Amino acid sequence: EKDPLIVLVTGAAGQIGYALVPMIARGAMLGSDQPVILHMLDIEPAADILQGVKMELMDGAFPLLKGVMATTDVNEACKGVDIAIMLGGFPRRKGMATKALISKNVGIYKTQASALEQHADPNCKVLVVANPANTNALILKEFAPSIPEENITCLTRLDHNRALSQISENLNVHVGDVKNVIIWGNHSSTQYVDANHALVDIGVGHKSVKELVANNHWLDSEFITSVQQRGDAIVKARRLSSALSAASAACDHMRDWILGTPKGTWVSMGVYSDGSYGIQPGLIYSFPVTCEKGVWSIVQGLTIGEFEREKMDASARELIEEKTWAYSCLH
Ligand code: NAI
Repeated sequence: EKDPLIVLVTGAAGQIGYALVPMIARGAMLGSDQPVILHMLDIEPAADILQGVKMELMDGAFPLLKGVMATTDVNEACKGVDIAIMLGGFPRRKGMATKALISKNVGIYKTQASALEQHADPNCKVLVVANPANTNALILKEFAPSIPEENITCLTRLDHNRALSQISENLNVHVGDVKNVIIWGNHSSTQYVDANHALVDIGVGHKSVKELVANNHWLDSEFITSVQQRGDAIVKARRLSSALSAASAACDHMRDWILGTPKGTWVSMGVYSDGSYGIQPGLIYSFPVTCEKGVWSIVQGLTIGEFEREKMDASARELIEEKTWAYSCLH
């Protein structure tokens, strides 16, 4: 049997946490042959809830789950961590501007970065989900300098999966037969949802989504807005934000990163930019990536038209602004 991996989930008493921890305990994130030890962190006011989640996890009697820690001590939570899923943070209140949200979260991510730096496995892999996800990940990267920068990522897989879902619905094909959409940029309304390279498996090879969509204008208009507004549509319907699909996307992100993407398939991940596609190096930006043996690489050589260029740059500009603001909060 494999040695267990220690998985940290911050904000584990929250909505996404409640959907995510049983998925991890069942092997949906790291594989059905990989034992896990869960470290769940939350803040003092949520300590009782966290204990309740721990009790339910124990009662789940998951064979892969070799231990559960529920704590409000960030240093204890980070001890020996191999995988860190960051759901915790100050939530966006109604009408709250991004700048205010950033100021609230910069301090939290600085502290958690230092705790990971000191106590986690030096090769720990990190996924930031909490918003503003890209900028929280950037702060984490800056304040945990001994963790390799390629190990710090943020979640845009939910947007990616939503794009697959919209195409599958529009073309009336199975979602599993659609692949290679791209989320470029920030996990925010400036993200560019790109289906120009997307493919549908038609049984005898692949056909491009562009060819199959009856009205090409749809891909530059309603398709993009329907992905962007999907979160709001779910809040309206469920009266709670999307937690199940966010948790599932977090599992997809980590599983593909660690176990690899299938041949000919790429996924979207927020990763530090090496300057690919002219995006400022060092930003945490969502790119199309393939993964092998725990290493992601940005898909190179895709043709970028004028419309795409403009959208990709606008999202980069927003991230530069967020970065500047985050730094100004640190001083
Ligand atoms: P939630 O509010 O239900 O849970 C957040 C939890 O974090 C709470 O239990 C809270 O007590 C905890 N927390 C707050 N400060 C903390 C700290 N300093 N350390 C540890 N825990 C702390 O929120 P939900 O719905 O679970 O979402 C979590 C985050 O994920 C939010 O920031 C949300 O905006 C973001 N999100 C990101 C998505 C993405 O695609 N990147 C998709 C969906 C949500």
